[in-house]
Amino acid sequence: MPGTQGLTVAIDGTSGSGKSSTSRAVANRFGLRYLDTGAMYRGAAWWMLNNSVDLADSAAIGQACDSFSIESTTDPNAPGISVDGTDVSAAIREDAVTSAVSAVSAVPEIRHRMVELQRDAVKAACDLGNGIVVEGRDIGTVVLPDADVKIYLVADPAARAARRAEQDVEEGRAANVANVEESLKARDKADSSRTTSPLTKADDAIQVDATYLNLEQVIDAVSALIIENVPAAAELVGGSHA
Ligand code: DC
Repeated sequence: MPGTQGLTVAIDGTSGSGKSSTSRAVANRFGLRYLDTGAMYRGAAWWMLNNSVDLADSAAIGQACDSFSIESTTDPNAPGISVDGTDVSAAIREDAVTSAVSAVSAVPEIRHRMVELQRDAVKAACDLGNGIVVEGRDIGTVVLPDADVKIYLVADPAARAARRAEQDVEEGRAANVANVEESLKARDKADSSRTTSPLTKADDAIQVDATYLNLEQVIDAVSALIIENVPAAAELVGGSHA
């Protein structure tokens, strides 16, 4: 925030609840940076697949946790991620990575490394600009327990599946709503039941149910909650995220 160290907004929630689109739009509206932590776990999963690490062997995944570099951009208009210098922004959205990511993100050594990288990215963004919107599963609970505003975004699985399938088609991938819904439910289950940092709502997070809201309405609701919780954030609306 102005006068302090930068506004930090944590947006957690289930797969396909609209976190990414909402987080990017909110970052743009308030002139903040944006970090997609799911993309970082996907990048780690991409590396494991590419290096034939056995996904059933969590010790092997843990041992490999420092074997690659991961860099994320924090520009909400150009989110991107590279692993060992290769741009994997598109590859991490492929089905193989989506199927592998829960196993990789459940490994404590991986989470430990990602959380450090995420906190470094937040610090860099707050040092240079107005602050950052960080989306993920454990942002309000683990990565940024002192975030200025914590949002927990949920939506009914059928609504999420329809939206995700639409996004797949828009981005040129094949889509099947029933399969997408099954895959979302499986990931919800894996993400919520893992031992380390399971997906859970922080006590001080505000839940937003997006089932019957369109994207604009979700963005407006989250923006209003930010201003309600941090009135000075209103001064940032329309500013640049530089
Ligand atoms: O948001 P997403 O679907 O791109 O996330 C991919 C996976 O990464 C998701 O299945 C759970 C995991 N994840 C996590 O464990 N912690 C985070 N902070 C973000 C994502």
